Amino acid sequence: MLGNFQFHNPTKLHFGENALDFLADELKNYGPTVLLSYGGGSIKKNGIYDQVMAILKKAGKTIIDDGGVMPNPTLDRMLEGAARAKANNVDLILAVGGGSTIDYAKGVSVSAWCDEDPWEKYYMRFEEPTCRIIPIGSVLTIAGTGSEMNGGSVISNHKANLKVGKVFGPAVYPKFTVLNPRFTFTVPKRQMVAGIFDIMSHILEQYFSGEDDNTSDYIAEGLMHSLIHSSRIAVKNPEDYEARSNIMWTATWALNTLIAMGKTTDWEVHMLGHAVGTLTDATHGMTLSAVSLPYYRLIMPYGLKKFARFATNIWGIAADGKSDEQLANEGLAAFEAWMHEIGVSMNITELGATKEMLPAIADATFILDGGYKKLTREDVLEILRQSL
Ligand code: NZQ
Ligand code: ZN
Repeated sequence: MLGNFQFHNPTKLHFGENALDFLADELKNYGPTVLLSYGGGSIKKNGIYDQVMAILKKAGKTIIDDGGVMPNPTLDRMLEGAARAKANNVDLILAVGGGSTIDYAKGVSVSAWCDEDPWEKYYMRFEEPTCRIIPIGSVLTIAGTGSEMNGGSVISNHKANLKVGKVFGPAVYPKFTVLNPRFTFTVPKRQMVAGIFDIMSHILEQYFSGEDDNTSDYIAEGLMHSLIHSSRIAVKNPEDYEARSNIMWTATWALNTLIAMGKTTDWEVHMLGHAVGTLTDATHGMTLSAVSLPYYRLIMPYGLKKFARFATNIWGIAADGKSDEQLANEGLAAFEAWMHEIGVSMNITELGATKEMLPAIADATFILDGGYKKLTREDVLEILRQSL
């Protein structure tokens, strides 16, 4: 394990078919006013809204409705929510939805009582909050982002053409999260596989970095095995509880900081994906799948040993005296075949990107240095061209 580190994850998880039963107990820890944040209405169609409302009402809470959070939540919507939270002096934000709603709730929680410009302070200067933080709880309805047990808050600022992820410290993590795999059964298949790919990408962003022998990488491999196995079952039968519950649990552990402990990490696929997302507003997981293979093919020569390990340990490819390069290529081919099998987007054209947009997407791509190769602007453009 590299360096010195602390692991502290304060989010309490309630998992399983009866997990929502624990919401009533959690609510006792907070004051009377609850901001109920949710998305575009899926929770009203599938009955989750009614279940949550019944529990809030029984607990005697004053409920401030805050529905309509869009996928890829915008800065404008976040500021609107912050004003609502402040005006009503809310005691708890209950985010019922996916990563978009939970990320948004985190932004609201640290912006409501902030005297500075929240975009500049958190998403440009990456500072921690110095004001009162409104506590958050979440009820997750789609598996993917890990937002339910981390400090990530990804906000789109369309005026600046930027989609930025701020990773807040534990004070901003949800205090509790309800994880009922059955709540994910109504997620449209395209969204389900986008979530599955997002989980895979989170694991790979942490796996494809560094050359040290590290427990975190072995845990990452275990998570990948479970995810690949369950994804194959879930695409055939989305109502397979065992598969959906494993996917939900894997998502949470893929991005709650555990597998980043004591190692370097990459995150360049996410930088590319967010830039594509800024220009197209496409589904997050699909922006990642569309750029992943061109990116990994470009950096593979610089991290051959890890790519060869990915081939043998994840895809079961026999080494048989093959060179690392050959193994690495076979590993990426197996990864590609799995992507086709589950049905993710393989190019950014189908997400609405055009050749003319590439310079603007490149401008919006942050270049990080944790991966096997620090990209040049020309590398970024080449990856984007290959992704069209
Ligand atoms: O808005 P509603 O009507 O609820 O519909 C949503 C939305 O259209 C729908 N949905 C969710 N649960 C459902 C459902 N439909 C039917 N039944 C259900 N049970 O699914 C759509 C997508 O929801 P969204 O919350 O946008 O999905 P996801 O969880 O993938 O979140 C994506 C956002 O999270 C950010 C992404 O960039 C993106 O903005 N990320 C957050 C991260 C973090 N906090 O650590 C890390 C990730 O890498 C990611 O960047
Ligand atoms: Zn992601």
